[in-house]
Amino acid sequence: MSRPLSNVDPALRRCWHPVARPAEVTAQPRRFLLLGEPWVLYRADGGIVAFADRCPHRHTPLSIGSCEAGVLQCAYHGWKFDSSGACVEIPALGNGAALPPAARLSPPAGLVEAHGMVFLAPEPPIAPLGPIPEADDPSFEAGELPTLAVRASVGLLADNFLDVAHFPFVHAGTFGADEAAEVPQYAVARDGWSFTTSYEHSFANREDPGVATGLRPLTQNRRLVYRLDAPFHLSLRIDFIEAGGTNVIGFFLQPESAERCRIFTTLWRDDLSGDPARMAEAVDFEVAVLREDLLVQEAFDELVLPLTPTAEVHTRADRTTLELRRVLSDLVRAAEGDAP
Ligand code: FES
Ligand SMILES: [Fe+2]
Repeated sequence: MSRPLSNVDPALRRCWHPVARPAEVTAQPRRFLLLGEPWVLYRADGGIVAFADRCPHRHTPLSIGSCEAGVLQCAYHGWKFDSSGACVEIPALGNGAALPPAARLSPPAGLVEAHGMVFLAPEPPIAPLGPIPEADDPSFEAGELPTLAVRASVGLLADNFLDVAHFPFVHAGTFGADEAAEVPQYAVARDGWSFTTSYEHSFANREDPGVATGLRPLTQNRRLVYRLDAPFHLSLRIDFIEAGGTNVIGFFLQPESAERCRIFTTLWRDDLSGDPARMAEAVDFEVAVLREDLLVQEAFDELVLPLTPTAEVHTRADRTTLELRRVLSDLVRAAEGDAP
């Protein structure tokens, strides 16, 4: 029996999570929430720094303070901290006074910028950051969706991203009308803290200019590879067999609090010939798809992902989402000191 996974499960402290787009982090301190805890992020000494958003003196949020030349000053009594978190000045003590050694800011175990996001791990992470090879491949261009802040469970959102049986019902207004309700047989391959699922199917390629000119038929094939890296780093890679080209959708979730989360979605495409209008169109379409998903996701009463297999009814069409529950259940046990 595993407890249902909430957005603030203590096991998630041992994981990497996105907390911001780099552009959200400036030279002035700003608060970001993760797992119900506030962090202050700002730029200092050419990089991004993060600390628990709490002054060691009287626990004032440091994010209401200010920063000058990378030195953060608390708004309450003016204590100053350098970018290593060491206190360098306590105005009330005057010049040259010895500073208490405990007057230090608390950094997270890990902070890294990757795939156009800032990731933070509160405690030493068990699972590595999910890779997106296309993000570093110059033949791909990136299109970022606006970051959405929603009332939802990150576990249920991950479940939704991996789910392949909802398209004709949830996405009838976008791409779902052409989709068959029956899910093709597919296999799931687990590798450590990640898994992939892949299958090939035929679809109506309405985006292909070669269809209008008669070069290619409307019904074409594509290969889909879904990937999860625990806890909530998700991607879908779509390879178009006849028309060529690859689309990648990266979906990264920030559990802010028990009831709230933020969704970072980025498209990486190598088939748009650098045309910003086509990328803008692709981003708008993906926003419409995501809004359809959110109509369901925001309606859940209980914002948790059940991890006990008997808590829900699974079918063979749910292999991927069942694997999600297995990986996360293993992660919870590993965080609690039991080998998975
Ligand atoms: S609370 Fe921050 S300096 Fe006193
Ligand atoms: Fe969906």
